[in-house]
Amino acid sequence: MVLVYLRGFSESDLGSVYELACKTLSERYDPNMFTSISSSWPEGSLVVDSSHGIKAFLLGSLSSSVQSRVLMLAVSEDIRRRGLGTMLMRRFLEESYKKGTRVVSLEVRRNNRAALNLYNKLGFRIVEVIPHYYNDGEDAYRMQRWL
Ligand SMILES: CC(C)(COP(=O)(O)OP(=O)(O)OC[C@H]1O[C@@H](n2cnc3c(N)ncnc32)[C@H](O)[C@@H]1OP(=O)(O)O)[C@@H](O)C(=O)NCCC(=O)NCCS
Repeated sequence: MVLVYLRGFSESDLGSVYELACKTLSERYDPNMFTSISSSWPEGSLVVDSSHGIKAFLLGSLSSSVQSRVLMLAVSEDIRRRGLGTMLMRRFLEESYKKGTRVVSLEVRRNNRAALNLYNKLGFRIVEVIPHYYNDGEDAYRMQRWL
């Protein structure tokens, strides 16, 4: 059994979080992006840590005084379907609400069934299709949830 706990992202997590992002996300990101996102709104960047290292993370930003956005969410493959994605999202919704945000938005690949189910369960709804949003040409759904 792996004991996990949720906490804020710190700069020393960068290496592990970047590695997890490379393993789990199809887009490639500049490592500097991770620290600049988290420093602009520290409460919006979260990790799930464990005795076996970081198992999941979420990076989010504030797009305006009333809107926040989930930029990246990933859970390590060996510990999926155990509620970590839900836990990170719920905390992000709480932090967004505390900040005065009234709507949370995100983009997700049209064929990402796992993520679509997760977001649907949490009350997100599709508001727009964005053609060719991803580098490989796949469309995205923009989803939103009111707080
Ligand atoms: C999407 C992702 C973050 C889900 O994380 P997770 O910790 O496994 O999700 P949870 O355990 O909280 O699952 C919550 C619900 O999401 C849905 N879900 C999660 N994984 C699923 C899967 N493989 N197939 C179908 N539905 C799935 C289910 O409805 C699930 O509830 P249930 O287990 O009671 O049926 C994870 O699969 C992941 O990291 N994927 C790769 C990266 C990615 O796609 N990130 C999102 C980019 S927008």
